Amino acid sequence: MMRHIKNTDPEIYSAVKNEIKRQEENLELIASENFTSLAVMEAQGSVLTNKYAEGYPRARWYGGCGNVDAAETIAIERAKELFKAEHVNVQAHSGSQANMAVYFTALKYKDKVLALDLACGGHLTHGHPHNFSGMFYKVFTYGVDRKTEFLDYDHIRNLARRHKPKMILAGASAYPRIMDFKQFRKICDEVGAYLFVDMAHIAGLVAAGAHPSPVPYADFVTSTTHKTLRGPRGGFIICKREFGKKIDSLIFPGLQGGPLMHVIAAKAVAFKEAMSPQFKKYQQQIVKNSRQLAHSLSGKGLRIVSGGTDTHLLLVDLTQKGISGRDASWILEGAGITVNKNLIPFDKKSPAVTSGIRLGTAAVTTRGMKEAQMQKIAGFIREAIDSNGGYEGLEKIRRKVLALAKKFPLYPELKGS
Ligand SMILES: Cc1ncc(COP(=O)(O)O)c(C=O)c1O
Repeated sequence: MMRHIKNTDPEIYSAVKNEIKRQEENLELIASENFTSLAVMEAQGSVLTNKYAEGYPRARWYGGCGNVDAAETIAIERAKELFKAEHVNVQAHSGSQANMAVYFTALKYKDKVLALDLACGGHLTHGHPHNFSGMFYKVFTYGVDRKTEFLDYDHIRNLARRHKPKMILAGASAYPRIMDFKQFRKICDEVGAYLFVDMAHIAGLVAAGAHPSPVPYADFVTSTTHKTLRGPRGGFIICKREFGKKIDSLIFPGLQGGPLMHVIAAKAVAFKEAMSPQFKKYQQQIVKNSRQLAHSLSGKGLRIVSGGTDTHLLLVDLTQKGISGRDASWILEGAGITVNKNLIPFDKKSPAVTSGIRLGTAAVTTRGMKEAQMQKIAGFIREAIDSNGGYEGLEKIRRKVLALAKKFPLYPELKGS
């Protein structure tokens, strides 16, 4: 499959080949990652990459756009149908750019925003001081309840009344529980704020009805396509019809140049896949798997933030184990299990060290794994953490991980590439 790259550029060929092996032989538990279908990859690797198409379907700056117009129109229509949306823009190159377009559409410089704190699961684009969102806007944050580690809507309402933000942001990178978008809408209505939901993590669950949809309630919804949704790396924006023109013109010419037409075609393929009954079952299995993983880890003495999960992800608090999230993620990588260190609510450690790890089940579920495998994986995680990074102990787990991974081949078609 890679015979051209093999001849032209052996160094890049070897990076890709080694990455296929890494993905095949490790257990991918990074909650923001997934494995796309070969159809998505074919679209992304297609000749559509050659085409400049600044503008939107039937209103382009360049000639020869008939075929890419067809692809983009299909992508928009599918996303509208999938999420029951009034207006969709599929050109955002990434989740961050989708978010930027919403801020620029809804707000003026220094306007007030209320968003979830990073340590409680928020994303950098939700107001971190080193991100445009924290540099250009006055951001206030809400957290989770110290005891339950769930969102507390009375607390959010009180903060909204006090600060009178122009926009309230809901959505997270590391919040394992269902978010009540209806409650957020009520709070926004009370204080006259826009509701902006970043559903990047849960978009696949939302598409399949495994998490309530924010679309009926929010003025703006953004997402990435590459997490639970299982599409190519990229972003898209859903908004109420009245904001459609402004969002489109902020993406182009406001923030981006030529759209990545090959990626847009791949997004269309992913949206089609997400409409199938199998996708619904797949998303339900993702949640069953993360619940099982949380349950099994907790049974092995590891504390799960908020006591469990309703989604594809869970957070493990390692404080009682006396190991940081950073060290645990290194050790787990040595055992062939890929995770990321993550702040936990009210973390006493820095973001570079952290007290927790974040685990997600979308990628292993794509491989066909179910509850029985989650129980095994929980055992591997506990063993690896207890090994303290000792070579022999990790090698033993690594062999078990490899045996499990081999039973669930990922891309057999790419074997021998
Ligand atoms: C909630 C949320 N929003 C936005 C993003 C940014 O997406 P991207 O990396 O495509 O810019 C992420 C990425 O992890 C995310 O978790």
